[in-house]
Amino acid sequence: MIPDKVPQEDVYHAPQDLVKGAHVPNFEKYKELYLKSIQSPEEFWGDIAKDFFWKTKHTGKFLDYNFDVTKGNIYIQCMEGATTNICYNALDWNIHQRNLGDKVAFYWEGNEPGDELKVTYRELLHQVCKFANVLKSVGVRKGDRVSIYMPMVVELVVAMLACARIGAVHSIVFAGFSAESLFERIMDSQCSLLITADGFYRGDKLISLKLIADDALQRCRDKGVPVEKCIMLKHLSKEQPDSPAASPSPPAKRPCPDLQVPWNPEVDLCWHTLVDGASEECEPEWCASEDPLFILYTSGSTGKPKGVLHTVSGYMLYAATTFKLVFDYQPDDVYWCTADIGWITGHSYITYGPLTNGATSVLFEGLPTYPDMSRMWEIVDKYQVTKFYTAPTAIRLLMKYGSAPVQKFRRDSLKVLGTVGEPINPEAWQWYYSVVGEKKCPVVDTFWQTETGGHVLTPLPAATPMKPGSATFPFFGVVPAILNESGEELEGPSEGYLVFKQPWPGIMRTVYGNHQRFEATYFQKFPGYYVTGDGCRRDQDGYFWITGRIDDMLNVSGHLLSTAEVESALVEHPAVSEAAVVGRPHPVKGESLYCFVTLIDGVAYSTTLETELKQQVREKIGAIATPDYMQNAPGLPKTRSGKIMRRVLRKIARNERDLGDVSTLADSSVIDQLFNNRCPTAV
Ligand code: PRX
Repeated sequence: MIPDKVPQEDVYHAPQDLVKGAHVPNFEKYKELYLKSIQSPEEFWGDIAKDFFWKTKHTGKFLDYNFDVTKGNIYIQCMEGATTNICYNALDWNIHQRNLGDKVAFYWEGNEPGDELKVTYRELLHQVCKFANVLKSVGVRKGDRVSIYMPMVVELVVAMLACARIGAVHSIVFAGFSAESLFERIMDSQCSLLITADGFYRGDKLISLKLIADDALQRCRDKGVPVEKCIMLKHLSKEQPDSPAASPSPPAKRPCPDLQVPWNPEVDLCWHTLVDGASEECEPEWCASEDPLFILYTSGSTGKPKGVLHTVSGYMLYAATTFKLVFDYQPDDVYWCTADIGWITGHSYITYGPLTNGATSVLFEGLPTYPDMSRMWEIVDKYQVTKFYTAPTAIRLLMKYGSAPVQKFRRDSLKVLGTVGEPINPEAWQWYYSVVGEKKCPVVDTFWQTETGGHVLTPLPAATPMKPGSATFPFFGVVPAILNESGEELEGPSEGYLVFKQPWPGIMRTVYGNHQRFEATYFQKFPGYYVTGDGCRRDQDGYFWITGRIDDMLNVSGHLLSTAEVESALVEHPAVSEAAVVGRPHPVKGESLYCFVTLIDGVAYSTTLETELKQQVREKIGAIATPDYMQNAPGLPKTRSGKIMRRVLRKIARNERDLGDVSTLADSSVIDQLFNNRCPTAV
């Protein structure tokens, strides 16, 4: 399945100095290790597991599983009998076994230039132990779910590791999500505690996080399911007189006079006060391999988010190994992933992957464009970043401003560049490679999902000749296939559904509280395979190219959204009777949201209503889901059985007149009307 030979021409190779000393220095070595990972997983992963601490060793098979719904329940079980703790491995083990106590774990860079902080492994361990004791003191026990809704601060990492240390299950909700989204996720995961912060700045914009959190908590109370406690970190208001000096963050440079922090003494607790008296010692909870580690919600095609559940041992090995090999991690690296920890990229490649390797990372609170277009490169120079990981949407955004903001800084520390989240168009790849990396840094285009836990298709920087826009080949232990509509495996150059034939240690184990949905979503369509929901093409050289989602999902700025989720937010408005949402290509975001709304009789379409509807979606889901285009659709193109023909709507959104076969349309007169009503800004 991995080609014997890969082309040596019209591909990009790593420079010789990167190849020297690389963990996987050439394609031959990659193939050899890949075969071993598939044929002898026990031996392959067993060797890797030796670098970790196990309280007890595993007794069963390395991976036991059923991937075929026709043969019974789907399950994946890794390292049965082993007990460990991922927080212990990330901190204590590095400090005691590898002597990394004084090594910097994070350089924190705030939204404002000059707002900065350095945390060593030892300091991080102390903070984590203190907070783990705080969690215990407020009644959190092994297996309890804890919601975390925080900005990109060190305390976010502290909170997640503290949960992991005591065996509690964290459910991090991205701090850009709305009160409604937070409420929905708290309810679904039945959390007893919410951890949040007063607020933060994103560029110039103040986000009053506690206000949003309070709104979500009120909704829980209204449903009769109150969350017992809410711990609030003073991030912006930490300069206020009642703030204890123990705050680990530096003073905020920007004053926040308008920040209102409501306080409910029945529920609210102050992070700093709690931490102040807590002990710096906390024995870890030894967890079984398949104990839950975290839940992370991802969009589902029904509109209801799915709580993707990852478990301890398999996720730990996979996040650590992909980090080490895909970025060719070396001990003197300074690594920077620009994602938010609220997404899986931040879980695996800001917290767990780097820390289990004892790496030094940059943790950035701000925006790539604030205060100016050079911010990223200024940070790269400031910390001498060697490995840099970002999203195609950020690359396309910066590309618009040309090479000058990049070339203001040297960037000569950079060795490997990475991308994640969506297909990278070859033009953006070239710009990243040539302008940012000055043709000296391989670009690893990493394909993966919240569900996969870590990279599944990816180049290895020294080993894989790169083709711009291709995620190249599978990572160790991963067996991809391309299926046609009838579920037949296609060989050679082909295009179809991307599936995986067997599990790898980091794959999700279930949808929290709904195993049936897990089976139905990923395993029902093609029994025997995990279905990614992505389309894929394999070229004549065996390279994989992701062609994008083939379900009702959209990828906006690297974030998955389901059309159903946005539609249901729109129809909740009293003026709307029906809504249909499709994607329209966007030069920076990849895809943008184009919404067709049918109003109830007697309501007139107006720009005021349009603004209200956009606001409604922001409030229901969050700013990432804000519709870009909206139009009045007195009628939608439907089949006689009433199914909306989205294919036709996609064409209308793009203003493409060639609609293909529309013979199944119940009423073809709606087409002209829809073209006439097109959103004028969607040229
Ligand atoms: O469509 C694929 C796209 O992002 C989806 C997964 O989204 P999410 O679970 O939010 O995780 C994003 C970060 C891992 C995939 O189904 N995707 C992710 N990486 C790539 C990609 N599409 C093409 N190329 C990639 N490198």
